[in-house]
Amino acid sequence: VYDFLERPLFKWGVCFSGKKTGIMFQDITTLLLDNKAFKHTVDIFVDRYRGMDISVVAGVEARGFMFGTAIALAIGAKFVPLRKPKSCQGRVCFNGEVIAEAYELEYGSDCLEMHVGAVEAGERAIVIDDLVATGGTLSAAIRLLERVGAQVVECGCVIGLRQVKGQRRLNGKPLYILVEPREIDGCYY
Ligand code: PRP
Ligand code: MG
Repeated sequence: VYDFLERPLFKWGVCFSGKKTGIMFQDITTLLLDNKAFKHTVDIFVDRYRGMDISVVAGVEARGFMFGTAIALAIGAKFVPLRKPKSCQGRVCFNGEVIAEAYELEYGSDCLEMHVGAVEAGERAIVIDDLVATGGTLSAAIRLLERVGAQVVECGCVIGLRQVKGQRRLNGKPLYILVEPREIDGCYY
């Protein structure tokens, strides 16, 4: 995806270390550098969710925080971080009691935690992340919210890879994505 000056808004690459070698990654930080493009991206979500009586925007660590907080502020909802214990490196992510959901990724497994009491039964929630691939992360987020009795209205992501496959894991929840790169010979354009 390019802006009007033909600069790429996302940087595409393949992992050579860190996570699993060979896994494609999409870097949305290049979008954040472009104020107009970032604002436009957030505004699309805001236009969609304003007026849908959403009281909870749950953002998935880490890049779901960047879009989710902006959306929550604009639609007048609370922001609920879904955190990854691994990212806290042995320190506690939250001060209070948490509930957790484990999930599988293309390169292993992970876990999302949410503060008990952050969301009340009956609240209408959306889940925001930068990207959906297998849908494992979003499905764990949905399970967390539903365990406390919230109603997950939709999941929203900037980028959707293999959207059909990912959506199958969302237990029938709607998935809204802005950009769906084309896959050609295992690479995304
Ligand atoms: C990436 C991406 C999504 C998730 C999508 O995060 O930011 O959160 O993968 O994959 P899925 O649909 O197959 O579950 P990642 O777990 O790599 O970690 P990070 O965002 O904390 O860097
Ligand atoms: Mg992520």
